[in-house]
Amino acid sequence: MTETRLAINDVSVEFTGLRALDHVSLAVETGEVVGLIGPNGSGKTTLINAITGQVKLATGTITAGDTVLSSLKPRDVALAGVSRSFQIVRLFNAMTVLENVEAGALAKGVARAAARERAETLLTEFGLLAKADELGDSLSYGDKRRVEIARALAAEPRFLLLDEPAAGMNDAETETLLHTLSELPEKRGLGLLIIDHDMGLIMRLCDRLHVLASGRTIAEGDAAHVRSHPAVIEAYLGKGAAHA
Ligand SMILES: Nc1ncnc2c1ncn2[C@@H]1O[C@H](COP(=O)(O)OP(=O)(O)OP(=O)(O)O)[C@@H](O)[C@H]1O
Ligand SMILES: [Mg+2]
Repeated sequence: MTETRLAINDVSVEFTGLRALDHVSLAVETGEVVGLIGPNGSGKTTLINAITGQVKLATGTITAGDTVLSSLKPRDVALAGVSRSFQIVRLFNAMTVLENVEAGALAKGVARAAARERAETLLTEFGLLAKADELGDSLSYGDKRRVEIARALAAEPRFLLLDEPAAGMNDAETETLLHTLSELPEKRGLGLLIIDHDMGLIMRLCDRLHVLASGRTIAEGDAAHVRSHPAVIEAYLGKGAAHA
């Protein structure tokens, strides 16, 4: 696969009586980490849902390399090399940790033996191999989130979209996650788009940031630029800086 750029061009999404995204454009290249931040309800999850075909676009196009994603179903977006995790974890609770991760490879048409091998490698990488036979349901919240990321990676995506992967993790878990995520772009040749409210994590992990407020882009650039941007400061202070 040669896709090296995930491009979101002029995308709007409308729900009844609400424009959740308003002409948003942004791009993620393979090899880089882009942070998507903004106050609650600013449209971050909706943007990931738009990329993965979970919501319809009112305007704009989304492409991964030469592949137009905007008309595809979620399953076909995944087959085109774009995988995600969910803000509210969606594991197969009655399946083991190993089976959950395997499922990510099987969905991509990988043969069972190869899927198992891939899953075991990922579980080792994520420090979860000892829990391979435990049921998804029995895991701590932080472990569930890591299994979900490992499952997304089992599909060997070119672009990985993570919706608040550190939510519910303690400081030590977040630190481990930061380390794991920071290695992904180079090691796996993928582009990472990450949403999180943990600004310490975001500022340290991301090459660039894109800031939304009320569905619109209010700033983009590196951490220093975004942190001191008046519109960003206002957006966060206006909606409660404590959650920023
Ligand atoms: N399926 C839906 N139907 C109707 N309204 C929706 C739907 N999904 C999201 N919204 C609304 O769209 C806006 C943007 O929501 P979104 O979930 O994208 O925000 P967010 O930036 O991810 O917020 P948070 O930080 O709380 O996760 C909100 O006003 C939300 O209530
Ligand atoms: Mg969200």
